[in-house]
Order: sequence, then C-alpha cells, then structure tokens
Amino acid sequence: MSDTIKETFFEELQSVEGLATLESLRVKYLGKKGVITEAVKKLSSLPIEQRPQAGKELNETKQAIEESLGKKEKHLRDKQLSERLAKEYLDITVPGRYIPRGRLHPINQVLAEINHIFSKMGFDVEEGPEVELDYYNFEALNIPKEHPARDMQDTFYISDEVVLRTQTSPVQIRVMEKKAPPLRFISPGKVYRCDSDVSHTPMFHQVEGLMVDKNISFSHLKGILETFLKEMYGSSVEVRFRPSFFPFTEPSAEIDISCIMCGSKGCRVCKETGWLEVLGAGMVHPKVFENVGYNPEEFTGFAFGMGVERLTMLRYSITDIRLFFDNDLRFLRQF
Ligand code: PHE
Repeated sequence: MSDTIKETFFEELQSVEGLATLESLRVKYLGKKGVITEAVKKLSSLPIEQRPQAGKELNETKQAIEESLGKKEKHLRDKQLSERLAKEYLDITVPGRYIPRGRLHPINQVLAEINHIFSKMGFDVEEGPEVELDYYNFEALNIPKEHPARDMQDTFYISDEVVLRTQTSPVQIRVMEKKAPPLRFISPGKVYRCDSDVSHTPMFHQVEGLMVDKNISFSHLKGILETFLKEMYGSSVEVRFRPSFFPFTEPSAEIDISCIMCGSKGCRVCKETGWLEVLGAGMVHPKVFENVGYNPEEFTGFAFGMGVERLTMLRYSITDIRLFFDNDLRFLRQF
C-alpha cells in the first residue's frame, strides 16, 4: 500500500511548478482527510500480524512525503527569488548618463564683465525695448527725419513711426524722461541694423552709458572710460580720444585702444595703424536735455556706447563676427 502511495505522490510532485499547487498536493496527502490519514484508518482492516509492518511503512512514507514537500518548497522559493533578483538586477557599475554642461555664451560672459566693472564705479543697469519708436531711436536724440546721420545706421522699419532700435541710446531718453538727475547707469541690450558681413550681423549687442549731474565734464568721461578699458584689457593698454561726430553729443569722440593683437606694431586687425576703435562717446547735447525737460544750464553729462561683439572679438582674437550666432558647439565650448 505504502509503495503505491509513494509512487503516485512522486509522480504528482514532479509536475508541480508553483507554490500553490504544492500546497494542494500537501493537503491531498497530509491533510485531515488526506491519503495518509485514510490509509491509517484502513490499517485496522488488515490481519493483525501485518499491521505493525504496514504501520511502520506508512510512517516512513509520511516522513518521506513531508521531507520531499519541504525540499520542493525550498527549491520553488529559491527559484522564485533568483528570478526576481535577475529581473530587478541593478548594475551599479554602469557609468551615469552624460549630461553636457551648459555655459554662458561668450557675448554674455563679456556683458557680465562689463556690468561688473561699471557697477564697481556706481553705475546702475537700465533696459529699454528692442522694438522702439522712431521718436526715441532718432528724433529725441537730435536726429530729425531726413537728417543725414540716419544713413549711418541701416534701419529696419516696422512702420513709419516704429523701428527695431539701431542703438541703445534711446534708453537714455526713456530713463531721463522718468528720473531726475543725478543719473549714472549703463544699458546693455540687442540692437538691429540691416547689414551683414565678417564684421557686421543684423543683430548685435551694445552697452550704452550715461552720467548726468551738476558739473560733469569731459574729464569725468575720460576717467571713467580709461578705467573701464584698463580693467577690461589690462593696465598696460593705451587709450586715445579722437574727435568725432554724433548728433546727440557735443563735443563727440571716438576712443581707440592700442592694438592688443600686435602690441601696436601694426597688423591686419588694426589695419597697420596700431590702434583699435572701441567706443563712441561725448558730452550730452543740450538739445537732448531740452527734449527730456532737463535744464542744460544746470546739468551736464556724458554718454558713451560700445559694441559688445567687437569687444569680445578683440578679447578672444575672433576674426568673424558671424561665429557668435552660428550656434556651433565646437566654437562655443571654447569659452
Ligand atoms: N549710439 C552710438 C552708435 O551706435 C554710440 C554712442 C553712444 C555715441 C553714446 C555717443 C554717445 O554709434
């Protein structure tokens, strides 16, 4: 009897593949109404001399079944665990995903440097709109319609009265309309001119500067700009003021620095002159003060403007301005 029980049990055990079926197999053989319990009950129907032997065999069979069930359960649990581990495997030695590190555009780096130098000298930062009224971009700056100075700047017109600003100088007017002197600020920003070649792009950046108070003279202008240029290009750089013309300043000057490419010996960049033009400037024209309601008898001031791309090209020996706007990472990553 025990032998057939064992035989069928092991046959059934072989086909068990999960813990749930293993449990039903256990109940089937070892449960209260299981195969073994039933067999024990039947012992009493055996001839008395066979009972001890049959009982012993049944006991061994029960033990063998318990043992096999235990082994099988352990085997199934191990298998389940290793499957889960394989599925949830995390290789902590895999290198992380590379996230390229961003950086400031070279123009923004130089802008930040300009801001920093002027803020040390007490200048605030003011901003104005890039889509500007003709009045602020030209008229209020003493450049009436049909004035030849308009030809100096190839303007993008949006309508008769609205332009893309060609310079940051209109911010002077906007600030002076709102605030009374004393004033000391720079205004950095984008400007637009219909022009494109190795040294011109239709959009570029300027930094305007304005200082207005009582008794401001040309020597203040000279001191501020010399200090700025020496901070920017090193204390050994030489600074030269040349007479020039802007409708909104009088007198006006263009400011050169000694060529930092060749050390003033003469090269392609300074066109063999030894000098590089970097700034336009002058004393604010009385007409401009009148346009914003300042009394030119009481207040004087100076203004200056510079092209940020040009300053950046000189700083890093870049020969084509268009590189700034091609968005070629091989170029941009160098800064
Ligand atoms: N706005 C002038 C330009 O774009 C530069 C300038 C600014 C000159 C302020 C004098 C004073 O050319």
